Amino acid sequence: MKNVAIIGSTGSIGTAALEVCAAHPDKFRVVGLAAGKNVKKIAYQVRLFRPRLVCLASETAAASLAACINKRKTEVVWSSTGLEQVATMPEADIILSSISGSAGLLPTLAAIKAGKDVALANKEALVMAGELLTREAARRQKRIIPVDSEHSAIAQILDGRGIRDVRSIILTASGGPFLQHSRARLARVTPRQALRHPRWKMGTKVTIDSATLMNKGLEVIEARWLFGIPPENIHVVIHPQSIIHSMVEYIDGSVLAHLSQPDMKGPIAYALSGPQRLSCILKPLDITRIARLTFLEPDKKKFPCLELAYRALAAGGLMPAVMNAANEIAVQQFLHKQISFTAIARLVEQVMAAFRHNGRVTLEAVLQADTWARAAAENVLKKMIL
Ligand SMILES: NC(=O)c1ccc[n+]([C@@H]2O[C@H](COP(=O)([O-])OP(=O)(O)OC[C@H]3O[C@@H](n4cnc5c(N)ncnc54)[C@H](OP(=O)(O)O)[C@@H]3O)[C@@H](O)[C@H]2O)c1
Repeated sequence: MKNVAIIGSTGSIGTAALEVCAAHPDKFRVVGLAAGKNVKKIAYQVRLFRPRLVCLASETAAASLAACINKRKTEVVWSSTGLEQVATMPEADIILSSISGSAGLLPTLAAIKAGKDVALANKEALVMAGELLTREAARRQKRIIPVDSEHSAIAQILDGRGIRDVRSIILTASGGPFLQHSRARLARVTPRQALRHPRWKMGTKVTIDSATLMNKGLEVIEARWLFGIPPENIHVVIHPQSIIHSMVEYIDGSVLAHLSQPDMKGPIAYALSGPQRLSCILKPLDITRIARLTFLEPDKKKFPCLELAYRALAAGGLMPAVMNAANEIAVQQFLHKQISFTAIARLVEQVMAAFRHNGRVTLEAVLQADTWARAAAENVLKKMIL
């Protein structure tokens, strides 16, 4: 029996993780939950799983939750302090980090420092501070286990053998909803259209990132830290069917691929229980019914965010944190219809170009870089013709 705490429990990944736990009550006990402001959903989750500790972002939200659950069984906390309490619960064996965006960094780091294995969906934490998180985990001999389907695929292929005989890894990308759009048409797409992902049902931030291909860029950086692979050996290929979740190319020329139905419950279950596999997580994959598997090069001119991520990785230090923060502001602005879809990349690029204080990755420096980039993005926005 594994004790699991989930931060980001009301989101797309958190909800899928709880489905996995509910399907295997003999394997998992949910001891802690944390989310932002969705009181109704977390109240339902608390009644179902009876965790010892639960956290919401604000005191008001926490009070609303406390009013509708059994407080003798579950303690309700709030704010970043409460979030850290859930991330470091003594009885938790593993923390699923599935908050979206940079808010995931501090609880993820706290969990690692508390000596927890972390199942990581929150890729932004690794993008911002990959060096710091992987160093802290290694120091405590704890694991950062990927939840992203691509990185889970690679971890499953490598199966603990490391990357000695690996020539490259190939991350697959669905290409998002605008794969066939011309550049002119891309400039006119609406948030509503961008939120209609052809394969995956996900939270808003990651869905927009998928449409710009920034998500794949973030995953390239994530892969560099999870597997210790140099950026030049991390390739991206568009694979619209999302059946192959990633591939590993070995020095002898063999390429191993991981295939399954596109359903996040697969990688979540593997992150929580691997290398042991759980039964009946995914619908069977009938390969005779898959008419074709197609692959194409990403169009980096049409989707410049991918190239920006390689650039941030090459610059190293604090640049990925700057890129991440600028991207979060840009996505927000696009969702609020303040900028066009194509301005997302332009805004990120301009903020990266203005960054002059690159340096060592400490927590303080990362947080400062994040704050600087948000302010810089607001300044660029005022001057930009978008
Ligand atoms: N969805 C996928 O298929 C998928 C696949 C691979 C990786 N990922 C990654 O997994 C992460 C989560 O994605 P998602 O799609 O599950 O996002 P989502 O549906 O938007 O869920 C985000 C979760 O984080 C919580 N949250 C947000 N800000 C918070 C804060 N300041 N304090 C506490 N909780 C906060 C939200 O709570 P409330 O809703 O209650 O406010 C919600 O529970 C992202 O980093 C994403 O890139 C997602």
